[in-house]
Amino acid sequence: MMLVLRLGAALVFAASVALGDKTYEYSYLGCFVDSADRDLNGLTNITKMADFEVKSYVAVQGTAMTPDYCANVCSLGGFPYFGLQLNSYCFCGRSYGSHGQAEDSDCNTPCGGNASINCGGPWRNSVFAMRYGSDNGCRSSYRPNPSRPQLVVSSSYSKATYWTEAIPNVAGCIQMCNTAASSCLAVLFNRQARLCQLLKFALVPQALNTVEGEFYARG
Ligand SMILES: *[C@@H]1O[C@H](CO)[C@@H](O)[C@H](O)[C@H]1NC(C)=O
Ligand SMILES: *[C@@H]1O[C@H](CO)[C@@H](O)[C@H](O)[C@H]1NC(C)=O
Repeated sequence: MMLVLRLGAALVFAASVALGDKTYEYSYLGCFVDSADRDLNGLTNITKMADFEVKSYVAVQGTAMTPDYCANVCSLGGFPYFGLQLNSYCFCGRSYGSHGQAEDSDCNTPCGGNASINCGGPWRNSVFAMRYGSDNGCRSSYRPNPSRPQLVVSSSYSKATYWTEAIPNVAGCIQMCNTAASSCLAVLFNRQARLCQLLKFALVPQALNTVEGEFYARG
């Protein structure tokens, strides 16, 4: 959000996309250098987000890649930035620009899913900023999702994807997610045990697969 405020009027949010239970906008920031030490490394430790498989080079690859596609992927973790590289690769990040900016003309590889849009280039990311929610950036609506889309992560990272609180009702559970300092994108609430699982992705972590409960993701 800081960046969005700093750039002010220069930043025009180009697209508003409603996908499933999420609403967000994104805008182009520029063409940035990448290296084997990935600039946008937010998908480190993640194996799979819903149906999106994360490759060893910490990107989701899709032949139908477009900015909309990548925004959809990165919104699942509430990432503030995403980058498109070389036609079909999608990276998510909480920061960008660690290897510096490149000429815009370096990002001239057409997107696999729409040749009239550019998706980066060789070792170059077309980087975009995400802005969530329509209500001053505050995501406050939660929708139930019985299909419980899954998050698969490396075992060492598993504990970092959620935390648990004893809370008597689902309203209190959602309220806690809403006000949580660490980013909380969804909850899994078990009425019998009165346990609230606060989830950092809009997905149910594999470690909670067998936990019964109602799953609500932020809209
Ligand atoms: C491809 O992108 C252009 C530019 O954003 C857009 O006008 C067009 O509708 C897109 N085509 C498809 C098939 O989505
Ligand atoms: C990957 O997981 C390890 C272990 O939890 C953690 O220390 C590290 O920060 C994670 N990396 C990223 C980019 O999230």
